[in-house]
Amino acid sequence: MASATTNPTAATKPTLLTDLASSVSRVPSNFVRSLSDRPNLQDVQSTDGSSIPLIDLQDLDDPNRSLTIRKIGDACRKYGFFQVMNHGVPEEVVQKMVKVSSEFFRLPESERTKSYSDDPTKTTRLSTSFNVKTEKVANWRDFLRLHCHPLEDYIPEWPTNPPCFREDGGEYCKKMRELSLRLLEAISESLGLEKDYINKALGKHGQHMAINYYPPCPEPELTYGLPGHADPNVITLLLQDDVPGLQALNEGKWLAVNPVPNTFTVNIGDQIQVISNDRYKSVLHRAVVNSEKERMSIPTFYCPSPDAVIGPAPDLIDPHHPALYRNFAYSEYYHKFWNRGLSKETCVDMFKADH
Ligand code: OGA
Ligand code: NI
Repeated sequence: MASATTNPTAATKPTLLTDLASSVSRVPSNFVRSLSDRPNLQDVQSTDGSSIPLIDLQDLDDPNRSLTIRKIGDACRKYGFFQVMNHGVPEEVVQKMVKVSSEFFRLPESERTKSYSDDPTKTTRLSTSFNVKTEKVANWRDFLRLHCHPLEDYIPEWPTNPPCFREDGGEYCKKMRELSLRLLEAISESLGLEKDYINKALGKHGQHMAINYYPPCPEPELTYGLPGHADPNVITLLLQDDVPGLQALNEGKWLAVNPVPNTFTVNIGDQIQVISNDRYKSVLHRAVVNSEKERMSIPTFYCPSPDAVIGPAPDLIDPHHPALYRNFAYSEYYHKFWNRGLSKETCVDMFKADH
């Protein structure tokens, strides 16, 4: 089974990390980053999360709406990140999702690997690292990735073990979709667009979810859970447990985005960067690991449907703000994202309009 000396050329199924991690006292060499590409954890700006704006979504429904929309717009411009409280997703739904997710990663490996695939086009799959087919250095992460909209199309592919996985996961996805749609309205308005502009730009819409599992790591300075990347989708709503690990790049420095109970961390993805014609930036972020505790995070990736054609909103183009991107089908974007490997050059640069 798990062995620290897998041969990547011979292996058809790369070793999952979850079991391996508990059996090693050093980081295996295929996870070790070069000296210039390490987390440098002592340089990270540590905060209690308070430097990333915390926005109360209750205020979206009352006379404070325009003020709240302004706060969201400011956060998108300045950080590309914000946290939301009073978000309307019932605590019980969140707790069930967390519970069933940690139960999944506690199943015997033989049970978990029923969902294993290294093919990024698979709509339900358990995998490890980022893209084991294209990357040179592995990441300290296993993940289960699920498509979840339209839910009835995908739920028949989901794991049936733990037995309540489909029910609890499905309920969570429905609530997260409602929250995503509310946030997209607010973001549209904050750009001065019609409330439903982004909604209409996404075709039939898509929604994916990951359950990221980061085991404790004996040498967290040498590797990443996820290296710096920008998310390819529209917006990401991240549920973090109580273990820190997420960091966002802000003014050239990595800023810890530490967990705040009962909130979600929202970040702008590449498609909003394009639609907003660069008014909002899809910010690089990463996940680091630690030697003490396992960490779990559950991002909801709200996205266009593959056939949706994305481009800068016409109302945000004028002689002073020429269109910075060409129009493209989201399927083209998504394919490029998964096949180029995570790298510091963001994928969105490949879609720049040439002047
Ligand atoms: C991601 C991501 C951050 C985290 O899955 O795209 O950025 O804290 N995750 O797990
Ligand atoms: Ni991300």
